[in-house]
Formats: sequence, structure tokens, C-alpha cells
Amino acid sequence: MNESVMAEQDLCETESARESFRRDCLAGLCRPDKSLPCKYFYDEEGARLFEAICELEEYYPTRTEVGILRRRIKEIASLLGPDCHLVELGSGSTMKTRLLLDHLDRPASYVPIDVARTQLLECSARLSREYAGVEVLPVCADYTNDFELPDLPAGTKRTVAFFPGSTIGNFEPHEARCFLQRIAGICGAEGGLLIGVDLKKDPSVLNPAYNDALGITAEFNLNVLARANRELEAGFDLAQFQHHAFYNELAGRVEMHLVSRRQQVVPVSGRKVFFAEAESIATEHCYKYSPEEFRQLAARAGWEMVRCWTDDKQWFGVHYLVPGGGTGPDAERGRARKSR
Ligand code: AVI
Repeated sequence: MNESVMAEQDLCETESARESFRRDCLAGLCRPDKSLPCKYFYDEEGARLFEAICELEEYYPTRTEVGILRRRIKEIASLLGPDCHLVELGSGSTMKTRLLLDHLDRPASYVPIDVARTQLLECSARLSREYAGVEVLPVCADYTNDFELPDLPAGTKRTVAFFPGSTIGNFEPHEARCFLQRIAGICGAEGGLLIGVDLKKDPSVLNPAYNDALGITAEFNLNVLARANRELEAGFDLAQFQHHAFYNELAGRVEMHLVSRRQQVVPVSGRKVFFAEAESIATEHCYKYSPEEFRQLAARAGWEMVRCWTDDKQWFGVHYLVPGGGTGPDAERGRARKSR
């Protein structure tokens, strides 16, 4: 593809991403309980802030998950088996991927899927150079929507999806079930899913993880308003919104909000959005599961738990799942249809 065609394609993608942001932003801000989808945190600045969060002392998930992967990598590699086709959902900086590619038995190919095109292409080119035997086939897409996988190279034994970081916790449970079901369809009957899940724990650990002393999480949260100012000609005064994050024990989730410090009217893409004093915008839910709760959720989506590795404190779980019988209503309906 020549450069001008690629530039035109980039422009179209940027325009359609901006249009989705505009539509979702206005829809979320014009309802009585204001909210913004957390996927809009991750523009270039948001991705940079998230990487900084992963390095924070208080934010335990990243280092805990990496520790589990390092300690269990031989067992993980042996479960995934030889010649597998590894598909990473939201590949980002691909740091955890290297650990897998270093230890898997002759991985046939690696498909990183991400919306951040520049980072995706740069990381893919680097991995292609470093792992000469692995076919790297990047897909620029929002993996929460439908996407198409490239054809499997000859000799591929199984498709394994890799979904680290506990991003599954940012889906509402019913969305998580539908998403896991869709991934089961993509991986097929011989496939597998390696997924990181943040576990339920004491609020004295969870609250600081989302309220770090340096204020990076607050900056990350406020960046969604800054992004609206940059991309949607919105007029948010960031000083007039406060980061608020807390563990909601009843719902089993950390909630992030942006709270209006005063009554104000903010222009957003030609509309006027009214905020009462102390009114909040819900920006993110981070669900925490017990291993059993996650096993049940995955089973309702058609997955069977083969293994759950945790750290000593049981703060984080890395799970390996394979297609199973399923126990949920969808699986029941499917079995009833088959037996007719
Ligand atoms: C990406 N996701 C799993 C992070 C989380 O912990 O839910 C996003 C995040 N939000 C605040 N800090 C990190």
C-alpha cells in the first residue's frame, strides 16, 4: 500500500474514532447519571499515563501478574502446547508477550490487536525482528467490537487468546460474559484463553491503588476531559473536577468518578452540559472477582477453568481456560437445540 493511501486510511480511522467519542460522550453526559466509557481514557496521553500507573508502588496488579507469569511460565508454555497461534487483545507495549514468546514451543504466529496504530505497528516490527520464526500479524481494531483475524499459518495447532492486565474487570459482568463468549467463538473448539484477573481483597489495598500519592491516577482520570477539550472542542476546566475513586464492596468493584466542584455549564461539541455542585461523572468500574466467581462467569460464557495461578497473597489470578460444556442459560439452550 502506498503512503498516501495509508495516510488517507489513517485519517478516516481517526475521523470515525472521533465521531464515536463525540457520540458516546454526548450520550453519557446528557443522561441523569452521567458516565463516560473507560475505553476513551486511552489516547496517546492516556496510554502514557497508564504505563506510569503500572509502575506505581500502590498499583500492585501489573507487577503481581508479571511475577505470576514469570514463576509459572514453564507450566503455562506446556499447557499452551507447540505451534500455537497467539492472539493478544489490547496488546499495548507487549511487555508480557515477550515472556510468552520466549518460552512457548515454536509459536506459529502472534496477532496483536490494538486501536493505537502507531504503537501497534512499532511493537509489531520490533517483535518481527526479534522473533524471526514467529509470524507477526498486527490487527488495528477495537477488540470490544467485531474484528477479523488473519488466516492461520499452515501447521497452527491451536488459537490461544491472551488477555492480561485484568482489563476484563473493566467490563460490566454481563458484558464480560458476552465478550468471553465471543472470544470462545474466535478461538474455536481446540483453543484456549490465558487471562489475568484482579482478585477480591481488603479495601485498604484497593483504595490506595486507585488513589496514588503522586496523583497519576487522578491525572489519568482527568485526561478524558482533556481529551474531550482536544478532540471535541469541549470547554472543561480541569481544575473544576475532582478525581474520586473508592471500593464499592457491595458491587465488588472500584469506581472512578470525576466530581464537579461547583455548579457549571460546559460546552461540548456545540451542546451545553449542565453540572450541579458535587454531581459526578462515572468514568470507570474495575470489578474484582474471587477465583470461584470468575470460574462461574467464564463457565457461563462456555469456558472451563483448567488452572488458576495466584501470588502468595492471592491478590491476582492468571487463569488458563479451554472451551467447556458451559453451565449458563445460553449453554443450556444450545444443548437443548443440539439434542432436538
Ligand atoms: C486497564 N485496567 C485493568 C486498569 C484497572 O485497574 O482497572 C485501569 C486503571 N484505572 C485506574 N488505574 C488503572
